[in-house]
Amino acid sequence: MILENIKVDRAGGRGVAVGKSADGKTVLVRGAAPGDVVDVRVLKRKKNFYEGRVDRVVEASPLRVAPSCAHTESCGGCPWQHLGYPSQAEFKGHEVEEQLVRVGGVSRDQAEWRPFVPAPTPFRYRNKTEFSFTSNRWRTRGELDANPEAETEPGLGFHVPGFWDKILDVQDCHLIPAYGNEIRNALRDEALALGLSFWHPRAKVGALRTAMLRSNQAGDWMLIIQWGEHPGPDGFTLMHRMTERFDRLVSLYWGLNEKVNDSMYDVDLHLFHGVEALEETMDSAIDGGRALRFLISPKSFYQTNPVQAHRLYAEALSAADLQGGETVYDLYTGTGTIALFMAQVAAKVVGVESVPEAVAAAVRNAERNGITNTAFEVGDMRRLFTPEFVARHGAPDVVVVDPPREGMHPAVVAELARIKAPKLVYVSCNPSTQARDVSMLAEAYEVERVQGVDMFPQTFHVESIVLLRAKTAGTR
Ligand SMILES: C[S@@+](CC[C@H](N)C(=O)[O-])C[C@H]1O[C@@H](n2cnc3c(N)ncnc32)[C@H](O)[C@@H]1O
Repeated sequence: MILENIKVDRAGGRGVAVGKSADGKTVLVRGAAPGDVVDVRVLKRKKNFYEGRVDRVVEASPLRVAPSCAHTESCGGCPWQHLGYPSQAEFKGHEVEEQLVRVGGVSRDQAEWRPFVPAPTPFRYRNKTEFSFTSNRWRTRGELDANPEAETEPGLGFHVPGFWDKILDVQDCHLIPAYGNEIRNALRDEALALGLSFWHPRAKVGALRTAMLRSNQAGDWMLIIQWGEHPGPDGFTLMHRMTERFDRLVSLYWGLNEKVNDSMYDVDLHLFHGVEALEETMDSAIDGGRALRFLISPKSFYQTNPVQAHRLYAEALSAADLQGGETVYDLYTGTGTIALFMAQVAAKVVGVESVPEAVAAAVRNAERNGITNTAFEVGDMRRLFTPEFVARHGAPDVVVVDPPREGMHPAVVAELARIKAPKLVYVSCNPSTQARDVSMLAEAYEVERVQGVDMFPQTFHVESIVLLRAKTAGTR
């Protein structure tokens, strides 16, 4: 079904633009820009709305730009690439505000709405990317029309959205530095030259399965290859050639993954070449402070846009406005990055995180930076964050929370409401769940300031930091 001449009037969440159909229903369109008039191919039809993608642009919005990436039609990794970056930043800032006002119940004149922080480099900012090998690469509509009988070809790239078994061969991903594209392309070409087979996702056979690239801001690179079968002499020749060809490839790991899924987190990895971990440094964001150093090993978490991660942490630190001597909780601490930032000023910081490996990395990162006033606990926030926890660590002066996209469990929100920490800094990667949690905290806290930050240009993701202040002292 095609809806004709739909006037698109705004950007919605998750990379869809929004218009109205002739029968008065909301139309959510992928691939459209606010200001466009488009024909929409309907993919889902619900009682109150349609969901679809652009079939034809009837009138192009002045906000449109030509996507710089050749893969944009099939890739799905950059759903806002057809919008100029200033418009992307504007819409993301607006989304944060809208959610907090509409869902969070924050009044527009109650809080300080700080100007949105866009990314200085809207392309080639990612320091980590995972690619999949395939024995049968995805063909675009244009390629199929030109040559419907073409034989299968191997490829190395990204999953096509909505298909676990279809892989788009990628020549130039605009989200990663050019050197990373060179490494990936050379890996594919050298592997083919050696006659190595590529993974068949349905049959679950093939030698080469996935490749992950990680890098630091100094320009060092790590490559992690998962093999579907033991590499053998040609496999080792491939890895050797890669290290000979790329002098900035300072670390190469391999692992044998014979499981059903591609995840490498439970696969034993072997260091084939170079150093065990990359080292990343981040300015302290404190006058006269030392830069913090973090280890990036194959499985460890590190923010994927390091430039904007620094700005996010600096904003969180500024919102906390530590004077020295405070007890800070950093809840959902990951590898302890925010905790270490806060620990430079606070008397002590207590971090909580559910992934034991992340906590081990947080402890190591504290040691490497000579930071001795942090403590980390492993556990599920819902069970760990109790009155007993607060009694054990002392009532916090500042609480920082940075939960996953789902936001916080109601039990966690209830405990935060009970303790009424003087300052609560809520860092979020999902404005809608953040707004929901803020509304549940409304009796205990009021929103003082809001700061949106773009960590992931070209995508629909947006981060925001909300500073809440306790209305009265709580039961601490
Ligand atoms: C958005 S990340 C924040 C990481 C960290 N603040 C940073 O900037 O690197 C959220 C973290 O919460 C952890 N997490 C998710 N659910 C959790 C839970 N129920 N209890 C404790 N930690 C949880 C995840 O493992 C992840 O490390």
